[in-house]
Amino acid sequence: MDFLWLFTMYVVFLLVCVSVFCLLSGRSMSNSNRISNYAEMVSHVLPAWLQRYYHRALQTRSRAFVILHLILDALVFAEYSWEVFGYCWELELKWLYIFLPYALITINLYYFYLCCVTDPGTLTRQNEVSYMQVYDYDDIMFHRDRRCPTCQLLKPARSKHCSVCKGCVQRFDHHCVWVNNCVGAFNIRYFLFYLLSLTLAAVSVAGVITAFLLQVVLLSHMMTAAYIDVEGHEHLMSIAFIIQHLFLTFPRMVFTLGFLLILVLLLGGYSCFVLHLCLTNQTTNEWCKARSHSSGTGLLSKSAKGYSRGRVENMREIFQPHTYYKKDR
Ligand SMILES: *[C@@H]1O[C@H](CO)[C@@H](O)[C@H](O)[C@H]1NC(C)=O
Ligand SMILES: [Zn+2]
Ligand SMILES: [Zn+2]
Repeated sequence: MDFLWLFTMYVVFLLVCVSVFCLLSGRSMSNSNRISNYAEMVSHVLPAWLQRYYHRALQTRSRAFVILHLILDALVFAEYSWEVFGYCWELELKWLYIFLPYALITINLYYFYLCCVTDPGTLTRQNEVSYMQVYDYDDIMFHRDRRCPTCQLLKPARSKHCSVCKGCVQRFDHHCVWVNNCVGAFNIRYFLFYLLSLTLAAVSVAGVITAFLLQVVLLSHMMTAAYIDVEGHEHLMSIAFIIQHLFLTFPRMVFTLGFLLILVLLLGGYSCFVLHLCLTNQTTNEWCKARSHSSGTGLLSKSAKGYSRGRVENMREIFQPHTYYKKDR
């Protein structure tokens, strides 16, 4: 296959991946933000039929993205087992590194599963009263004696109604289409582990592929080799030439590597953001609220430090939502 053609396909593929990711995160932000500049922008960019599909897939609970997630996992690991694993075994890379991705993806799938099936803290008539006592109202973001207009239940502080799951959720963070569930009081810890393990799995696969490609370059003495062009001049191999050579010799592997590198950047950044929110006792919902109301009210400064009782306490609340609540009252 022609290098240029392959490369164009590759760039298009990466762009699609990035824009899908941005559209989805834009949607979960606007979900909690209400002022959805992003959704508006989307409606100008996408053609009508795609918009319709986009809204249907995102505004009702659907397994579409869970399945897409599993397919992407399967593709990356099929490529890994099919090509990378065998070559690395032959090159005698340390077996620990070769097996690490399998261990990490197993851990990741376990937390992915927990994230999908754990009840995030949906409010019902039975638990309404006990959930009401967990957090105090601040009368800035969350006001007393309000009822959810849809479920008619009293609204505990930090809760929010999710229009996709059709219920109010305690300590609502956001609705995540990748796990087809809300992230709330009782699954935010799984969500955190899920993100971290997914990032590490991607890092480890990318690491093994990079190590392999470097080995190939070193063993074949490509760096010191030279080639002669049509006019008979001799050139040393340039980096661009080596990359092109690797791309043509191992197209699937380089393809996967590029995808993983972008994924690591996006996931890594997002994981840091979620970790930061957990450490400072904020939810994504509150973070967005503080941002959109902050002009002049001093809300931002309050939410940024007002609710935090130190990192350890904040994390304890994430990891022991039940016991924390019982101990404290
Ligand atoms: C987190 O913030 C809420 C208010 O939004 C507060 O009621 C709660 O006690 C805080 N938790 C910790 C561990 O600081
Ligand atoms: Zn509700
Ligand atoms: Zn939801």
